[in-house]
Amino acid sequence: MHIISNCTQDAINKAAQALMDGHLVAFPTETVYGLGADASNSKAVARIYKVKARPTDHPLIVHISSINQMNKWARAIPDYAITLARKFWPGPMTLILKRSDLAKNFITGNQENVGLRVPSDPVALSLLLEFEALGGYGIAAPSANIFGAVSPTSAEAVKEELGKDLLYTDIILDNGVCTTGIESTIINCLDKIPSILRPGAITAEMISLVIGTIIEEKSHNKLVKSSGQLNKHYSPKAQIEFSDIPKAGQGFIGLASIPDHPDVIRLASPKNLAEYSMQLYSALRLADSLALETVTVALPKGSGLAWAIRDRIEKAAGKKNF
Ligand code: TXA
Ligand code: MG
Repeated sequence: MHIISNCTQDAINKAAQALMDGHLVAFPTETVYGLGADASNSKAVARIYKVKARPTDHPLIVHISSINQMNKWARAIPDYAITLARKFWPGPMTLILKRSDLAKNFITGNQENVGLRVPSDPVALSLLLEFEALGGYGIAAPSANIFGAVSPTSAEAVKEELGKDLLYTDIILDNGVCTTGIESTIINCLDKIPSILRPGAITAEMISLVIGTIIEEKSHNKLVKSSGQLNKHYSPKAQIEFSDIPKAGQGFIGLASIPDHPDVIRLASPKNLAEYSMQLYSALRLADSLALETVTVALPKGSGLAWAIRDRIEKAAGKKNF
């Protein structure tokens, strides 16, 4: 495996060809780094599951270069899904739609639906365009971490998570730190009204405004199988406690407005919610690299992105109630 940090067009072409040849390419997206494979190649996709140690009935998101590729993977697409795609793609949103014949069981975890996303990171988009120019249809990519662990938000973190299981023919494309920092909003588009399966930076309020129907700020977890819906996920080794008061000798993650304490190991001091989501996973990773036993986290309050951040932290702590 090698990391390519200077993602020139040549480097992108090489990575797209590697995908066509059945190899794995980890790539940046605005949310987190993905571990990519040709979504039409069952052997390549099987390697994703093996490298991640992920149960095979957990479906993968198919990444495409634009809304124009939607019909290849999905059918009977509701109008509101087109409206959402027009408004929020490229961007941190995944739509769950009825699958076409192209979306095989090895992608959908034997379900009749498929998850689609157009990422906005320029390296991801160039890779998708080049891959499609070579005849590919879509890139399957889960977050590039071991199943249940913290998603990587940098190429270094991908190497740390999966480096020993990637082969010399696999590639990691590096485009720095992910700007959103938590995974995409997953929207169930199988019913008359969409519902949120996993909260993210595209919020219920944003969705409601665009489609003209009020969408509840609530995770609907019964409809389709989604590993982000497990009680414990995104977890570091360190124990997580919730409190707005930093504790001496422990790690602390919280808004910069909460003052420092001399005996606290400050892991992140985001100034606002966008910085909070951007820094959260690297802060959890830092806790583990410092071998901290406990991290105190001050949960952000409010709706929208704050809800999405709380969702990840509560799952990382294994304390999410449904
Ligand atoms: O931001 C993201 O979505 C990142 C980047 C790489 O695009 N990807 C990501 O993939 O978070 P993953 O596999 O780590 O999480 C995707 C979630 C999983 O919980 C999976 O079960 C769910 O999406 N999912 C994928 N396809 C689905 C489907 N057809 N029906 C229901 N859930 C689906
Ligand atoms: Mg994941």
